Amino acid sequence: MSRLVTLFLCLFLIVRTSIAGEGMWLPILLSQLNEKDMQTMGMRITAEDIYSVNHSSLKDAIVLFGGGCTAEIVSNQGLILTNHHCGFSNIQRHSTLEHDYLTDGFWASSLTEELPNPGLSVTFLVSMEDVTEKILQGISPDMKGSERDAIILKNRGKVESEASKGSRYKASVKAFYSGNQFYLIMTETFTDIRLVGAPPSNIGKFGGDTDNWMWPRHTGDFSVFRIYANKNNEPADFSKDNIPYTPKKSLTISLKGVKEGDFTFVYGFPGTTQEYLPSYAVDMAANQRNPIAIKLRQQKLDLIDKAMENDKLTRIQYAAKAASVANFWKKMIGESKGINRLDAIEKKQQFEAGFEIWVNAENSRKDLYGNILTDYRQSIEDFRPYHKAYTYLTEGAMGVEIIRFAYGYNNLLKQCREKTTADDEIIKSAAKLKAGVPGYFKNYNSKLDEAIFAKLMETYGKECDPAFLPPIFTEAMAKYEGSYKAWAADVFKKSMFADSSKMNTLLDNFTRKRSKKIEEDPAFLVARSVYAFLQDKLVPVVNSFYLKADSLQRVYMKAQMEMQTGKVFYPDANSTLRVAYGNVKGYSPADAVDYRWFTTLDGILEKENPDVYDYVVTPRLRELSTSRDYGRYADADGSMHVAFIATNHTTGGNSGSPVLDADGNLVGINFDRCWEGTMSDLIYDPDQCRNIALDIRYCLFIIDRYAGAANLIKEMNFATR
Ligand code: ARG
Ligand code: ASP
Repeated sequence: MSRLVTLFLCLFLIVRTSIAGEGMWLPILLSQLNEKDMQTMGMRITAEDIYSVNHSSLKDAIVLFGGGCTAEIVSNQGLILTNHHCGFSNIQRHSTLEHDYLTDGFWASSLTEELPNPGLSVTFLVSMEDVTEKILQGISPDMKGSERDAIILKNRGKVESEASKGSRYKASVKAFYSGNQFYLIMTETFTDIRLVGAPPSNIGKFGGDTDNWMWPRHTGDFSVFRIYANKNNEPADFSKDNIPYTPKKSLTISLKGVKEGDFTFVYGFPGTTQEYLPSYAVDMAANQRNPIAIKLRQQKLDLIDKAMENDKLTRIQYAAKAASVANFWKKMIGESKGINRLDAIEKKQQFEAGFEIWVNAENSRKDLYGNILTDYRQSIEDFRPYHKAYTYLTEGAMGVEIIRFAYGYNNLLKQCREKTTADDEIIKSAAKLKAGVPGYFKNYNSKLDEAIFAKLMETYGKECDPAFLPPIFTEAMAKYEGSYKAWAADVFKKSMFADSSKMNTLLDNFTRKRSKKIEEDPAFLVARSVYAFLQDKLVPVVNSFYLKADSLQRVYMKAQMEMQTGKVFYPDANSTLRVAYGNVKGYSPADAVDYRWFTTLDGILEKENPDVYDYVVTPRLRELSTSRDYGRYADADGSMHVAFIATNHTTGGNSGSPVLDADGNLVGINFDRCWEGTMSDLIYDPDQCRNIALDIRYCLFIIDRYAGAANLIKEMNFATR
């Protein structure tokens, strides 16, 4: 072996453990992989307290909230806490100009006042088990991707159906380590979830999109819901007869707070990370996708923000939409900056150079992994132009509401054209679409959408490679002499999809003959051209790329694990329950700038600005602050702590997750990350990556003192100091 090779191998072997703070660990493997480390860092409980196969454990108090957040149980009557931004769309749905819960907050003073939320559910993890062997049965190493996938699909089906036989739980097999390991996951989902309380937006969303993803942060980002069950404490759809769910476990709350250096862990459902990608994949995300998406979202946000500022109704209608557009927009800016600042691509390239040396050091490795990086790089190079076009189409054209809405009628049109579809099928489809009309137009401003159409289509049309533009662009540019404004104006003047009464006229007593109206509608014509281009020209390439990339990533992942035998690997996040652990810690985001690890109520008053929506402070909160009477919610330093940061490795989906202390008591609710560390989905930097948690004492202070909802506090369990 050459000296260089030996040096590289030594380097890799030295990295015996992972980087402090990095990792989203599987709860069932904690005792094996992390318990010692966690205890060394200060934890006083055991892995068994966190996840137990036989007894109730902290895991039984954690739920997946809706599709993409976490919540935790804090009372024996199924009371759960999550973020305000996680409950946002539900709070928004209950809000009208008369009852504006979004602006004013909402508090149910008794169970009967709690508001049902159709479509909202929470899911418990019941158990999980390694089934890799069963899933890989019949697979040989030289098998082609498609053949392998087919066998896995069959094995999965078998394992799932066996597991769910005679069980009231749902069984699903999920892939870990890029498809190298498989776990059977049993879950239980409750569907009657009611809104119990939400602070006004100028507490729950204080700082708004301006402070989003940033530290120092002062957002009271929480909302309160309750799980309901039938008389047997089982999941049931909404019914007046349902009663509050009695949980196996509810969290104990600590009012002690945390100090710098304290051990904490976050227990929740992180969505997606991609920590083990090669440099070219990171480059495509950070330097191609992000800049395009950022620009288009910026343009859209400028228009929405202006409209929201000028009109109260638009503010309600577009609050949730704007927040979701802005959220990923800002995340992408932070992510690309973080990648570049950390020289992440160069770091990955260096790793890849070491990897090649390791591969070439042995013939058996050369056979298995000799081409992996070359193949990977080539696939990405080939895919780049398509990926670019795909980003323009999805962020540009699909960022226009009328285009998405109009395309929703394509299916009805198809049915009308098919002789085989019976008339009553068509009537049913039309009725279903009609049911969606009021909800759609409740939150729709066609003037604003027209402006968005003109702007986004212009950027798309001018910047995307012409070979990758849907044909409607050429037609429209000829017809409107290059004016995107004229195009938008004409579409919105003539299209029925911009007007609820025209939509009702279309759908009332709908018959086949009316399908002509859809087919000739100018917004529908745009939508059809865009979606046809997507389906026919892009999706096949996108799908085949991801199929290929998945199988390359699986092999590359396996090779990385083989090479770094001393390293403990955590699997990428995949919306399964994980534990991240770390220490409370400030950080330095820039030269000469040091961030402290906590914020206080005084900081809210410092940020106060009655003229800027994001920084309005209600008189009541100001009063509570000036009195400085924080009671048992005060920190030992006498101030009211609002938020704190720690080195826990979190991602989207971790919002609402409990932040627990060394004794497993609830001390915070996770809601965000610091901007400089948002590249942690692709690469973690212990120096810059911090999760942001709401201090549970501020949350309780608002519930108790601000809202006067002492009834809720009474339900909760507190650790004795
Ligand atoms: N950045 C946080 C997360 O990704 C909070 C988002 C909600 N807040 C907002 N201002 N859009 O979910
Ligand atoms: N705010 C994110 C969420 O909603 C959390 C994060 O990305 O750090 O899950």
